[in-house]
Formats: sequence, structure tokens, C-alpha cells
Amino acid sequence: MKQFLSPTDLGDLHQAFREALEIKNDRYHYVEAGRNKTLLMIFFNNSLRTRLSTQKAAMNLGMNVIVLDVNQGAWKLETERGVIMDGDKSEHLLEAIPVMGCYCDLIGVRSFARFDNRADDYNEHILQQFIRYSGRPVFSMESATVHPLQAFADYITIEEHKRTQRPKVVLTWAPHPKALPQAVPNSFAEWMVAANYDVVVVQPEGYELDERFTRGATVMYNQDEALSGADFVYAKNWSAYREPNYGQILSKDMNWTITSQKMALTNNAFFMHCLPVRRNMIVTDEVIESPQSLVIPEAANREISATVVLKRMLDALNK
Ligand code: CP
Repeated sequence: MKQFLSPTDLGDLHQAFREALEIKNDRYHYVEAGRNKTLLMIFFNNSLRTRLSTQKAAMNLGMNVIVLDVNQGAWKLETERGVIMDGDKSEHLLEAIPVMGCYCDLIGVRSFARFDNRADDYNEHILQQFIRYSGRPVFSMESATVHPLQAFADYITIEEHKRTQRPKVVLTWAPHPKALPQAVPNSFAEWMVAANYDVVVVQPEGYELDERFTRGATVMYNQDEALSGADFVYAKNWSAYREPNYGQILSKDMNWTITSQKMALTNNAFFMHCLPVRRNMIVTDEVIESPQSLVIPEAANREISATVVLKRMLDALNK
């Protein structure tokens, strides 16, 4: 596996789940796979779970790890070609990327949507430059449009907890004070459809996601109706995708917050969120602290999803 952005990079998801369970039962089983191999993790944005779980995954595989926070201690990077670099940016990404590639075997990149230009974000302007110029296999640690390590962990979590073969999985928009990217909901919808679950995406008018990610899901606008009979409720905020409102907040309607009353509409559903979460905006204290909340098992499965992905990438390198 030379890159990791989508479920198609993994192939058969059932097989990937079996590998996840194998690793969960014996995390160090493949500790020789990464001997004398180095993972470089590059963060353009903050992280708690991705940083720790991916580093732990690399350690499970015996890898060396280098972490670079681009905005703390590195030269400020110019990302656009053709710019006269007479400002505060000392280095261009086009030199920095191949240099980074010299020091490692695999590269993980976290680079959120910037909301300046939808086409740049949806072309994965930063991540694609790493793929093109680093000379190394590259995986997304949440890039402008996708968060596949999270969605893979969510898939593992649902497989572990589902009570029916084809559960009803509802992705619902919820309110938030800041404009957030669509990466998590895009990947969640894409992976849940790929898993052949009964997928519903529900949001206020104007918050429709890119159809490339929701194709195969039922798209709705009435949250109560969508929640009816749900086996899993995945709450997430995202900003508008459609032009001319790309990246904007169109609503902060607190009627979309997931409460105990909302959860009572479901089939005793499990509650999910990728974290970090704004309590009593996205979800009430009561719901997130309830026995039906899977937010901690989901986060724990980030180590497992990352171990499977890094193992696959190492296997390709070692061939
Ligand atoms: N869910 C997730 O990716 O968390 P972090 O932003 O803390 O890495």
C-alpha cells in the first residue's frame, strides 16, 4: 500500500477488520516489521489522538518515529508556487518535502482544509504535494477532505458492537461555535457505505456534503425522523460544502444537539464522536457519559487502525 486516503486503499474491509482483531489480540506480533524503518509525522494542525495513537502504532511495529510540528520550531513554509518570498516564510514546501523524504521511510501528514478556496482543499493541495515530491509512501492523518484513520477506527468499533448484520448508522450534523472542515463526515460516510451498512446522513438545509462521499447513503433533513430506529448515532459538526457558502457556518441551532430525548428515538443506539467534542453543543454530558457512549473505544481503536495501515505500508516497502 503506497498511500492511504480511502477505503479502496485497504481493499476488502472484512479482511482489514480481521487484521485489526489479530493486532488487537497481540499488538507486538509484527514488532520486527518496522525494524530500522522511520516514520515521519508532520503536523500543520493540532492533534491529541492522531499524534499519540499513530506514534504508538509505529512503536508496536518496531519503527523509529520523528514528529514535526511545522508551526512550532520549523521554518515557516510557503505552500504556493510563484510567490515572491519576501515575507515571513523562509522555506518553500517544494524544497522542504523532498528534504523530509530523505530522513524517513513513511510519511503521515495532518493538514486541514484552509477554506480559502474549495478547489484547493478538495484537490488536497498540500497532501498531494507530499505524495508527488517526497519519494515516500504517504498517508493522511486528517487532510483537507478526509480522515481515513478515524473512519477505519470507527468501522472497527461498529463491527465490534453491532447487534445486526447490517446496522442503521446515522451521521448527524450538530452545532459548533467554529467553522469545521468536512473531512471527518466525508470519510465516515464513505467508509460506512463501503461497509454496506444502512447509512443515513442528516443535516440542516445548506450543509449537504460532497456527493462523492455520500453516494449510497440516504440524505435527510429531519433529525428526529433520521434517528428513528438507529443502531449507531455519529454526531459531528461540519461547515457548508456548497458554494457560495463553502467553509461557512449557516446554523448554530441547538435543537440538533444530541440529548437523551434524541437518543430515546433510536434502537437503543450507541453514541459515537471522533473527539475532541464540545460538550453540550454537539452532545449533552448525560449522553456522552452514558453506557451507550463509544467515544473512548473509538479513540482506543485509533491505535489499531494505524497499526494495520502502517503494517500494510511496511509490507509494501519490504517486498
Ligand atoms: N479524532 C482525532 O483525529 O483527534 P485529534 O484531532 O486529537 O488527533
